[in-house]
Amino acid sequence: MDDRTERKRLNYKDKLVLAPMVRIGTLPMRLLALDYGADIVYTEELIDRKLLRSFRRVNDVLGTVDYIDKTDGMVTFRTCPKERDRVVLQIGTCDAERALTVAKMVEQDVAGIDVNMGCPKQFSLVGKMGAALLKEPETAAHILRTLVNNLSISVTCKIRVLPDLDKTIEFCQLMQSTGISAIAIHGRTVDERPQHMNRNEVLKEISKRLSIPVIANGGSKEIQKYSDIIKFKEITGCSSVMLARAAEWNCSIFKKEGLLPMEDVIKSYLKYAVDCDNPPSNTKYCVQNILRDQQESALGKKFLNSQTLEQICDCWDLSEYCRLKRSEFEKNGFLGRSQVSPMRDDEEHTQSNKRKLSEEEDVILMHCAFLRNNYVTDLELPKTILHKWMQTQRKKMPSYNTQQKGKLFRSIVTVDGRKYGSSFWEKNKKWAEQGAALVCLFSLDLVNKKSFIANGNAPS
Ligand SMILES: Cc1cc2nc3c(=O)[nH]c(=O)nc-3n(C[C@H](O)[C@H](O)[C@H](O)COP(=O)(O)O)c2cc1C
Repeated sequence: MDDRTERKRLNYKDKLVLAPMVRIGTLPMRLLALDYGADIVYTEELIDRKLLRSFRRVNDVLGTVDYIDKTDGMVTFRTCPKERDRVVLQIGTCDAERALTVAKMVEQDVAGIDVNMGCPKQFSLVGKMGAALLKEPETAAHILRTLVNNLSISVTCKIRVLPDLDKTIEFCQLMQSTGISAIAIHGRTVDERPQHMNRNEVLKEISKRLSIPVIANGGSKEIQKYSDIIKFKEITGCSSVMLARAAEWNCSIFKKEGLLPMEDVIKSYLKYAVDCDNPPSNTKYCVQNILRDQQESALGKKFLNSQTLEQICDCWDLSEYCRLKRSEFEKNGFLGRSQVSPMRDDEEHTQSNKRKLSEEEDVILMHCAFLRNNYVTDLELPKTILHKWMQTQRKKMPSYNTQQKGKLFRSIVTVDGRKYGSSFWEKNKKWAEQGAALVCLFSLDLVNKKSFIANGNAPS
């Protein structure tokens, strides 16, 4: 049976929606939002080119579907069956063909595709993506039409209002004519910042003039409790409400019964972070955005010093939960992200290089990725640890010799007359050196392998 033809289109009427948020909208936060009452959850914006260089892998241990960047082994997008019918993947794109290729790739795993037409960041504008599309209505419409005509799942776009009401309505009507299922509108212009008033009256006018559901966005400043969401919906006259910052600060805003204490939200979030093997750096960032000014407390300070997932969990008495889950994952054969072998297509070439390197130069070689996101401070970087150790041993400082092939790098470090290197090709020279230092640390038993496995950064 072709599963794709069976997909039911998402209904965007009368819905509470978790907005797309870079770094915040990863799997643990999306699952939490669904638990608390969100009907639809958007992913963070994912750039089409990045998704295009990712491959799909079912992760049996975690029960997730992962899209993994071939070039660095990092998870670009992780999702799971629990959210499949309610998750909308937001793409950053300026090209209909690329957008469709990406959408086809993920179609079986998500409920909808959204095109970001509101991001005001330089990166997006230079790439003709995000808010740049507001100035290119024909291109924007072509992208949406291409997606609508070729996908079995819903297509939407998220825009900002234009300075002129009529022009905004005109833009929205053109987007509507492409057959999209709904349109999300942030009631600020590209030049306006969060401190500016959201143009609720503009949202009201647009929603009157469109026949598709309009999802009102931009109201977080006035939303402190559930009833404020209803008020925002009434004021804007929109079909649905999309929340970003209010949910980032306390995701239980979606709960009809009222907000939960911050501590409860953090604990539930952390459990999902552990269950999803979420990177410590991303987990820390999300918790920081829940804690906000509470970071000055004693607990906040302990949290700020934490680096591994287990240390973060320990701040909320969840280290045991973290350890048990980790050992369960390990028992089931999952070693974290280090399992991912970037440059899969190039494996043969890597293997032959590995042999050549070790025979010719007598290098102690391991397949060891340096995953930058796993290191919160410079103090814990492999090169720093190695450097300090050499100092305490009063030995000659390590020397690095880096090899470049196209855009990729590999390094060999010489320590005490012996050579260590990783067979993993890194994206830059700095990371290649860190990878080599990591192999040396493992070989000399200078790091606790278990803690590295916990961070998804162990050699294979
Ligand atoms: C941390 C953060 C990340 C964001 N990332 C995205 C994004 O990836 N895509 C997008 O369309 N908007 C993004 N936004 C904008 C929000 O989706 C939303 O439009 C804006 O914050 C206004 O809604 P609010 O008042 O509910 O916060 C982001 C906002 C924040 C605060």
